Amino acid sequence: MKNILFVSGEGLPFIKSGGLADVIGSLPAALTKRGEGAAVVLPMYKRIIEKFPELKEECTFRVHSGVIDKQCVLYSTKIDEVIYYFIRQDDYFYRDGLYGYADDGERFIFFCHAALDMLPHIKFKPDVIHTNDWHTGMIPIMCKQEYTDPEYKKYKHVYTIHNLLFQGNFPKETMRCLNLSDHYWNNGDIKFDNGISFMKAGIIYADKVTTVSQTYAREILTSEYGERMEKVLANKGDNLLGIVNGIDIDNWNPSTDKALYKNYSINDIRNKKACKRSLQYQLGLRVADDVMLIGIVTRLTWQKGMHLILDKLTNIMNQDVQLVILGSGDNYIENELKKIESTYPHRAVFYCGYNEELSHRIYAGCDLFLMPSLFEPCGISQLISMRYGTIPLVRETGGLKDTVQPFNEYDGTGTGFSFRYFRGDEMMHVLAYAIKVYYYNKAGWRKLIRQAMSVDVSWDNSAREYSQLYESM
Ligand code: ADP
Ligand code: GLC
Repeated sequence: MKNILFVSGEGLPFIKSGGLADVIGSLPAALTKRGEGAAVVLPMYKRIIEKFPELKEECTFRVHSGVIDKQCVLYSTKIDEVIYYFIRQDDYFYRDGLYGYADDGERFIFFCHAALDMLPHIKFKPDVIHTNDWHTGMIPIMCKQEYTDPEYKKYKHVYTIHNLLFQGNFPKETMRCLNLSDHYWNNGDIKFDNGISFMKAGIIYADKVTTVSQTYAREILTSEYGERMEKVLANKGDNLLGIVNGIDIDNWNPSTDKALYKNYSINDIRNKKACKRSLQYQLGLRVADDVMLIGIVTRLTWQKGMHLILDKLTNIMNQDVQLVILGSGDNYIENELKKIESTYPHRAVFYCGYNEELSHRIYAGCDLFLMPSLFEPCGISQLISMRYGTIPLVRETGGLKDTVQPFNEYDGTGTGFSFRYFRGDEMMHVLAYAIKVYYYNKAGWRKLIRQAMSVDVSWDNSAREYSQLYESM
């Protein structure tokens, strides 16, 4: 058994902007259930300071991040068996948002240095440092090339790509925050275009690179999905692998979920209808059992196939369906969606923003969950919706392909609906089929619900795969 230190830009229950936070909030706990040791280190954002005043101050130390020399304060807490550390540096992290600032390169190089510098100050002694996405991609090269203390040479490095689109590419002058010579720029290891790339450095210097589904692990080797990193990734050979995400099945449990109007389980799903009526009522939709309610919970970006949905909105609403969309993001998409309520009164609703509780009610109250992503490294939403008996309709890409089995009317197998090519008419074709099954093959639909709810979306299998990976190192 090993000790794993997860380093991440976000993680539940403290801070979340997307699925990365779900993973960091549940995989470490799943590993501790298997007997591994697990700790997580996060930046201490303003929201964490405000929402978690009980965090314990551990110590203060200075961090030399190239030309930057600043003090930071280390906080900690423990939830069940997982230890959480927080790097507090208010110049960098006491801000309203998480990412998207002009000095992100400097902020996250500082965070990476602080996460490594904290190691002599804490009791937790990692065997493996598990970094995630661009925010922490610099850690393997820093640990291997900047730190001379032999302790730092013992750590093994796993780097998980949750989304290859966001690469942490910054101007070359960001190198002033690294304690690395120009050699690593000149040899091309961190150079990308004319700047530096955290993602590239993570891929090259980690001992193992993983991504969050097997299909995405294959897709990113192609120019279509590789975001210009496909050659760097191909060089990893067998050291690149896909391990599909799970979800926290205690938090996401329709039989105990406190956000729901009524609880239900696979053994008795009658209350799912009550959840639907209560959701319709809450949102101002016509309250009716017998109309298909379609749900979407998402960041509003092109990645999530929002252009297919906008293109086909009229066609979707020409069917006998209701639609609820919860999300925020791209301004154009938000503005387009804001029109739907007046165009389709009592039939379509857009809730603009982030709302955890409403998301639970949508996962429970809808009949169908629409997720026609352009690409999807894994996807957490379709896993949650299956657990809540809400049938996913997805595009066959990345983790969506690996986790949703298309319905087969002849033998009754399947857990959802899917289409292959990223085209509006393909999506509409499958949606029309799903609508037909919903209205005219009620036994088939009930079977689909049971099958979706029976899918094992827990971390059990994938945590075992991560354990095996750590062990192999
Ligand atoms: P991604 O990480 O690419 O955004 P995932 O499907 O992996 O996509 O994870 C998204 C997570 O964020 C899910 O837990 C989903 O329920 C949640 N989520 C996304 N948008 C919202 C929102 N507007 N309100 C509440 N939860 C949201
Ligand atoms: C990223 C991906 C999403 C994945 C999540 C967690 O945000 O877009 O597909 O589920 O990370 O790994």
